[in-house]
Amino acid sequence: MGNPIAYSKSPLIHKTFARQTEQQLSYQAIQVNEGSFPQALAQFQQLGGKGLNITLPFKGDAYHSVDELTPRAEQVQAVNTIWFSADDRRYGDTTDGVGLLRDLHNHNFSCCDKSIIILGAGGAVRSVLPDLLENKPATISIVNRTYSRAEGLVQQFSGYENVGSCRLDELAGRHFDLVINGTSANLNGEMLALPDDLLEHGACCLDMAYADTDTVFVRWAKDHGATVVLDGLGMLVEQAAESFYIWRSVRPETQPVIEMLRNS
Ligand code: ATR
Repeated sequence: MGNPIAYSKSPLIHKTFARQTEQQLSYQAIQVNEGSFPQALAQFQQLGGKGLNITLPFKGDAYHSVDELTPRAEQVQAVNTIWFSADDRRYGDTTDGVGLLRDLHNHNFSCCDKSIIILGAGGAVRSVLPDLLENKPATISIVNRTYSRAEGLVQQFSGYENVGSCRLDELAGRHFDLVINGTSANLNGEMLALPDDLLEHGACCLDMAYADTDTVFVRWAKDHGATVVLDGLGMLVEQAAESFYIWRSVRPETQPVIEMLRNS
């Protein structure tokens, strides 16, 4: 469920997972009007729906619509995966962070003891912070166009000493092993003005967004010598795989699906 939803790749991803794992399922994109998420969810459940993904702008509504939350969904106050128990209780999780970590893992990148910088301080960034932190990075610095939002996000994770906000002009002379772009600036062909020497030797850059051609951030990463450059397609398929596993207790193979989407 989302709005807009027409261009979602999720129906194709889940259909492919189902074929691969011989699961019987129907997964459809449902466009929901703003303000109508609670009714849409209730109707879906009454009609016998087994589980669903929720995308923008309803992840917050989904958070408020479930009976039980996983700890990470509780922490990020957003839900992208819902499932129902036999007695009709609703459960909610957020799988974006797992998706990001698996994609990094697929490219042999471990966050442990690494210096990480994240661009952006919106819902997309908040949703991946718990899983990133669980992987014990040395530091996570959050940089945002609007500095106060970065500060606000850091406050929500004040239990972790290794997360801090950083102003753009404080980046001079600092180097990072992993740069994650979680801003929506790409959509306008823009990006934050980063120092040219931001990347540590062997650095990885990951854009949470993806497009048919290189995003501005992916181009920047390639131009500035990143060793591993990833867009958001791998993360998209990996977060879907985690949802599929929650619903079906079967783990699909993600690599062929990532390749299929890459070549489509
Ligand atoms: P989402 O839920 O997708 O994260 P969001 O909460 O609207 O969406 O956050 C969008 C993020 O992209 C924010 O960090 C935003 O920066 P501001 O907090 O300053 O608005 C960032 N962003 C959007 N357009 C941008 C641009 N042109 N340059 C830099 N950052 C931008």
